Amino acid sequence: MKTYLATIVASAFLAAGSLAAADAKAIYVKDCQKCHGADGKGQTTMGKKLKVKDWTDAQVQSKFTDEEAIKTIKEGKKEGDKTRMKAYKDLYSDQEVKDLVAYIRKFAKK
Ligand code: HEC
Repeated sequence: MKTYLATIVASAFLAAGSLAAADAKAIYVKDCQKCHGADGKGQTTMGKKLKVKDWTDAQVQSKFTDEEAIKTIKEGKKEGDKTRMKAYKDLYSDQEVKDLVAYIRKFAKK
């Protein structure tokens, strides 16, 4: 069902002619939203528990560079032995990771 929904979202965006955004959005909805929230604020059950940052806050966004964001997505986030966010490097290509960062950046520009 989740894959099905992601496909619908992807096709809708494909129709709008924005390939990169479509991929990033589909990935975000499928893999990131449960912690970081549909609106990037992280106000989900998981997001609150893990205290993820509010990406609509420009100050928060200015605290990490694109390179750091890419690294976090690829390597994940750990605190001691505990995984806070898993590594996505085996799931997504470099281009997809870059598109995800661009997608995340848009949350602050509203
Ligand atoms: C299990 C919950 C969870 C999921 C799922 C998750 N993240 Fe995270 N993410 C976190 C946590 C926790 C942090 C660290 C926040 C901190 O250090 O305060 C983080 C940090 C980040 C950061 C670094 C910038 C920041 O806010 O600290 C980026 C970029 C990021 N996540 C992107 C993603 C992307 C893209 C996905 C989907 C592919 C994703 N995350 C999925 C929990 C998650």
